[in-house]
Amino acid sequence: MADARAIGIFDSGLGGLTVAKEIIKLLPNENIVYFGDTGRVPYGTRSRETIVKYARQDEKFLLNKDVKLIVAACGTVSSVASDTAKELPVPFIEVVSHSVKSAVKATKNKKIGILATSATIASGSHKTQIKKLLPDCEVVESSGTLLVPLVEEGWTDVCDNVVYETVRRYLEPMIKAGVDTVILGCTHFPVLTQVISKIMGQGVTLINMGTATALAVKECLKLSDALNDSNNKGNHSYFVSDKTASFEKTASVLLNENIDGNTVEQVDINSL
Ligand code: DGL
Repeated sequence: MADARAIGIFDSGLGGLTVAKEIIKLLPNENIVYFGDTGRVPYGTRSRETIVKYARQDEKFLLNKDVKLIVAACGTVSSVASDTAKELPVPFIEVVSHSVKSAVKATKNKKIGILATSATIASGSHKTQIKKLLPDCEVVESSGTLLVPLVEEGWTDVCDNVVYETVRRYLEPMIKAGVDTVILGCTHFPVLTQVISKIMGQGVTLINMGTATALAVKECLKLSDALNDSNNKGNHSYFVSDKTASFEKTASVLLNENIDGNTVEQVDINSL
C-alpha cells in the first residue's frame, strides 16, 4: 500500500538538513516536510525544560502537516527530549542510537570521540549507549558550542583560519587521546566535514548521524507498510520560524535544490 503522506523532519535550524539529505538520497520518492527553528536556534545551550517545550511545538507543527513519521534531526532533542515521542500518534526516529551503533562498528582501537552541543554532552546520551555496547571503549567528549552559530552563519570554508582554529580547539582532546572514530553528534557538524577531516586526518572515521538515521527511517516505514511506492520524485517543503538568507543558501548547496524565499515559508511556532 502506498502512503503518500510526508516524512516530517525537524531541527533547531539548518543542521537537520544534513539528515534530510541522507533521507532524500535513500528515499527519493518520499514527500518531505522540514521545519527548522531558525528563530530560536541554538537549542544546545538551553535547559531541558526549554528544549522539551520547543520539541513539543516542533512535533505539533509537523503533525498538523499530517506527516506519517517524525524524525528529530537534532542531536540535542534526541538526547534530551526523546520522551516527547511517547505522546506522538506516529512513529518517531531519533539520531543518537543509530549513529552509536555505526561508531561501535567502525572503531578498531576502541577510542571514540563525541563532538556535540553542551546539552547533548551533559545528557551523556552517546557515552551511555556506547558503554552498553562496548564497555571498555574510551569515550572522549567535547561540546562544540561555537560551531553551531558558525554553521548557521555559513562560515564553513576549510581555508578560513578562524573556522579552522575554532574547530581544531574543540577537537584537541580527541587528537590527544588518539580516537579513530568521531561521532558528529550535532546535525550541524557534517557541514564542517571538510575541516574536521583535515584536522583529524584520513585514518579517522567521521560518523554522520544522518546516514544511519536514514536507514532506520526506511526500515520503520517498510515494517509499517508505509513506504510511498509512487515512481515520482517526492515534494520537499521547507518551513522556518525566521527567514534567514543563510538557511536558503546552505539548504540550496546542501540539497542541490533551488531553495529561495519563495520555497521557504515562515511560521509562528510560538503560537502552537
Ligand atoms: N543541530 C542540533 C543538534 O544536532 C542543535 C544545535 C543547536 O541548536 O544547538 O544538536
